[in-house]
Amino acid sequence: NKPVTIAVDGPAASGKGTLSRNLAKELRLAHLDTGALYRAVGYKTLQAGVPFDDEARIEQLAQSIEASDLASPELRSEATGAAASKVSTLMRVRAAVGEFPKQFAENPPPGSSGAVLDGRDVGTVLLPNATLKLFITASDEVRAQRRLDELKSRGGNLEGVTFEKVLQDMRERDRRDRERAAAPLKAADDAVIIDTSNMNEAQVMDASIAEVKRAC
Ligand code: C5P
Repeated sequence: NKPVTIAVDGPAASGKGTLSRNLAKELRLAHLDTGALYRAVGYKTLQAGVPFDDEARIEQLAQSIEASDLASPELRSEATGAAASKVSTLMRVRAAVGEFPKQFAENPPPGSSGAVLDGRDVGTVLLPNATLKLFITASDEVRAQRRLDELKSRGGNLEGVTFEKVLQDMRERDRRDRERAAAPLKAADDAVIIDTSNMNEAQVMDASIAEVKRAC
């Protein structure tokens, strides 16, 4: 029995992370947030003060990532998100990071019959034969508001954080993710696209479960 694999891709703050956690729980699958891997590399790069074009040193940092690096609350900051999108343009960094999610999906942890992976290139590059591919999106404004709400709910320093600034930073990150040569953000040809602009968490979940039933 091949493990069930669900690929969930989409731009920043589209709701793909929340959906992936909900799907994994409901379907008793393991969940891997592949963005956290790139965030960990981005955070290490910032901390070590390595310039973003030093591919060889950032590749080394990527190879040194351990499970404990994925738990840091610093991973969730906007600065780390921006750093992640810079290091993830580097081919050798993608090669170093990319093996882990593939292994995870092929050999999910004991007790789970498969895995949900979310990111930017899960359906296009990491798992081209996924059981189901979802591409989750929403308007720029809706996504910026969600990101702002998330930043507020987490507390922390909100100095200089405005809707306009969040929107602008998000658009810049999306552009970098879409336009890069290596595994750009895009929906796989066989992905089901769900626009969540006018949907709540439960509605996105219902629409996705309907697709799971069709695909499995
Ligand atoms: O999803 P998240 O916002 O945590 O991802 C942070 C950054 O990591 C993205 O903007 C993207 O540049 C990069 N990423 C990627 N490939 C993935 C997941 C994330 O390049 N599969």
